[in-house]
Amino acid sequence: MDLFEAIEKRASVRAYAPADVSEANLLKIADAGRRAPSGGNRQPLQFILIRDKETLKALEKVQPCFGSASAAVGIVADPAVSRWWLEDASAAAENMLLAVQALGYASVWVEGTLLKQEDYAKKLLGVPPEKRFVILLPIGKAPQETPQADRKPLSEVLWRERYGRK
Ligand SMILES: Cc1cc2nc3c(=O)[nH]c(=O)nc-3n(C[C@H](O)[C@H](O)[C@H](O)COP(=O)(O)O)c2cc1C
Repeated sequence: MDLFEAIEKRASVRAYAPADVSEANLLKIADAGRRAPSGGNRQPLQFILIRDKETLKALEKVQPCFGSASAAVGIVADPAVSRWWLEDASAAAENMLLAVQALGYASVWVEGTLLKQEDYAKKLLGVPPEKRFVILLPIGKAPQETPQADRKPLSEVLWRERYGRK
């Protein structure tokens, strides 16, 4: 899938049909995360690939969507390595969401609900207490085509040369 098509078609999907997510594709997705820009190239991130059904079920406590996911990728960040750990995690998340889309799967950026259950999720996945675990991406098949949520039109958010100039 062309990059611009992936950008246009990516949409948050929160319930999945069963999908065969091959190891090769899961690694491609993680590699897209690894290749994202990193402030000062400090690379404070690590990725957890999750396939185990019981773990996915247990992640329903974070958000119900994990129960129907075939896999998930967690992003672990080390704030001691870079003060830009959250920006880096966000860049990696978006790269991975686009990779997920390009490979024909669906996902959603899970952060708001994970923040409320971070200690639980860290314990579940054995993440050391000093690290942060703030983004999880479930991976599955979209049961039907899902449109991206409405966006403000470009004309509303775009200025030319100076702020406020059409
Ligand atoms: C920082 C951030 C945190 C988010 N956290 C959650 C979340 O915890 N759960 C969820 O279902 N969606 C979450 N989302 C997804 C947004 O709700 C979604 O991207 C937005 O509603 C637009 O929909 P779209 O992705 O289909 O375009 C998050 C997105 C971002 C960028």
